Amino acid sequence: MCRLLLCGATGLVGREVLRMALQLDSLHEVVALTRRPLPAHPRLLNPVVDFERLPAEAEWWRAEAAICTLGTTLRDAGSQAAFRRVDVDYVLAFARLARAGGARAFALASSLGADAASRNFYLRCKGEAEQAVQALGFPSLTLVRPSLIGGERERRRPLEQAGMRVLQALAPCLPRRYRVVPAARIAHALLRAALTATTGCTVIASEQLQLPT
Ligand SMILES: NC(=O)c1ccc[n+]([C@@H]2O[C@H](COP(=O)([O-])OP(=O)(O)OC[C@H]3O[C@@H](n4cnc5c(N)ncnc54)[C@H](OP(=O)(O)O)[C@@H]3O)[C@@H](O)[C@H]2O)c1
Repeated sequence: MCRLLLCGATGLVGREVLRMALQLDSLHEVVALTRRPLPAHPRLLNPVVDFERLPAEAEWWRAEAAICTLGTTLRDAGSQAAFRRVDVDYVLAFARLARAGGARAFALASSLGADAASRNFYLRCKGEAEQAVQALGFPSLTLVRPSLIGGERERRRPLEQAGMRVLQALAPCLPRRYRVVPAARIAHALLRAALTATTGCTVIASEQLQLPT
């Protein structure tokens, strides 16, 4: 494979995807679209973009595979509409241009419980994003659905951290699917899916991302 597109590279999971991808000699170039610049690397192309106006004509959309780890929180977004704009519309805009550029494989960081028919707004958005990407017809699509994601964040998220502490304390008694998943394991699953490009739609559930105990 020559070129991989990545969206969300400044985030917890995206940072790990980028770190792993840049270590692979088989990848000639990683194109990471961000809204703030990343540290330079000889194999990294880092278009700093406005996700409201993605540059559809750019040459670098021509890639073999794409990974999306984009997402916000209701708190950061400020409203349900603004959250939806990022977690559904931006994801779809990226996927659409990746598909138009020829990507055959797409791997999406979604969520445990993602369901377009859910009564929960967050899970409904995640399910809608999955469905919309599925409709684009990538020959290989992988939906990774983690539970709470573990790792060091640039900014503290007190509620999430409290939830994480509870889940970690209860981990031995919890079903695997509800345990915290380290960001690196999600990144690894996304990258492997994008590079192997298994035909069809594959769902990777949270329990499949856990280390064997
Ligand atoms: N947190 C969890 O425990 C959890 C659990 C299940 C699923 N998920 C989902 O898994 C995915 C990855 O999670 P994560 O924890 O790695 O996310 P994260 O650390 O919050 O990173 C999100 C990425 O999206 C970008 N982004 C957010 N809002 C944006 C906007 N308005 N315009 C452009 N870029 C924007 C961020 O860019 P900036 O750095 O510029 O903000 C960052 O690169 C997300 O879709 C998340 O919803 C998360």
